[in-house]
Amino acid sequence: MNVSVIGAGHVGLVTAACFADLGHTVWVVNRNTEKAAAINAGKPPFHEQGLEELLIRHAGTNLFAGTGYDPIAQCDLIFICVGTPSAKDGNADLSLVKAASLSVGDALRETERDHVVVVKSTVPPGSTERLVRPAVLEQAGRNDIGFAANPEFLREGYGVEDFQYPDRIVIGSNDQQTLNQVTAAYDGINAPILKTGITAAEMIKYASNAFLATKISFANEMGNICKQLGVDVYEVMQGVGMDHRISPHFLNAGVGFGGPCLQKDTSALIRLAENLGEEPQLLPSVLEVNEGQPLRMVTLLEHRIGSLAGKRIAVLGLAFKAETDDVRDSRAISVIRSLLDKGAVVVAYDPIAIPAMRCIFPEITYCTDEREALKEADACLIMTEWPQFSMLDDAFEGMRAQVVIEGRRILTCGTREGLCW
Ligand code: UGA
Repeated sequence: MNVSVIGAGHVGLVTAACFADLGHTVWVVNRNTEKAAAINAGKPPFHEQGLEELLIRHAGTNLFAGTGYDPIAQCDLIFICVGTPSAKDGNADLSLVKAASLSVGDALRETERDHVVVVKSTVPPGSTERLVRPAVLEQAGRNDIGFAANPEFLREGYGVEDFQYPDRIVIGSNDQQTLNQVTAAYDGINAPILKTGITAAEMIKYASNAFLATKISFANEMGNICKQLGVDVYEVMQGVGMDHRISPHFLNAGVGFGGPCLQKDTSALIRLAENLGEEPQLLPSVLEVNEGQPLRMVTLLEHRIGSLAGKRIAVLGLAFKAETDDVRDSRAISVIRSLLDKGAVVVAYDPIAIPAMRCIFPEITYCTDEREALKEADACLIMTEWPQFSMLDDAFEGMRAQVVIEGRRILTCGTREGLCW
């Protein structure tokens, strides 16, 4: 098939590279010329495991990137994979989706072949029908284009693996021919395919992310109670997760969820519910628990070492999770802000996320490795579960005082203290 992918972020580029690997010819449309050039040269513009290998294999052969929409006129399937960031009021900002839909419509104006426009971006339920479909059809001046919602369940850092070995593929469409065409694009992937209506497919994505967020906040609330009881919440969650109705995944307590998805999508779902006249009770609490966790980290630190003014605090891990250089909504941001407000001297290290964090906090000191950050530090906070941190035992000996507080359970050294274990 001829496939185009609008947007070259984590979702768009992983989707494009994986479709190319399934044998399709793929065009990536992206607004940034430098990014398009990097993709065509086989260089991923961000860190994502396995992506470089796919780009090297397919760029220039059956994967092409550019800034113009012209190639989509030749495409059977057009996947919209642009960002849907949070607006100030917590609603999803759909301006990029709208702009992409209008450009797609424009490019499909003169063509005589069949096309299906597939929304992969995470959008509030109803958006494909109410925004994408009318924008594309009106701009194209025709009404014979198929529409589908095909939400992504790709974790950053593990996107390629999640695309190639998904738990399920959800395809929402209101007509059988469109469903068949989108299903055919995934030939070669061994996974159950759930076919639904368009709005239900969009809601599956929101509900999934809201449930993942809920699991984490639940584990964190249990962890906060366990800490008071002197009980290890990881042991507790191991026992809880052995119940097949619960599952052991996404029950890791700590400093909470960050990143561009769980918080954003849960907020947007809350706003959507409110706009519909509902008053959601559970989801606001999920976000509240999550916002409280980083501040607990700073409070625990103050209990351990007193006033933070003038103290040198090593912050290890800046990315919102391991295996990514993304710092969007990273828990390290609120921790560093609070440390600075309290007059601490912050020295930080992350294997790959320093350039991104430097844009947010140019004023703190960034180190070339963990040892340099720990040297003469009064305390250390572990914010990201990078596996290499688990091998640091003797590096902590360089600290002025071995006060080590973990927001993620990763260390093996005896002197550490867990945030909620
Ligand atoms: C999340 C979902 O997991 C994907 O299925 C979804 O496709 C994606 O959002 C999206 O909507 O695009 P992602 O945000 O990349 O993926 O990362 P996760 O692995 O879900 O981690 C999110 C945050 O939760 C991280 O800060 C992580 O450290 C934290 N987390 C995760 C916990 O605190 N505890 C856990 O048990 C698991």
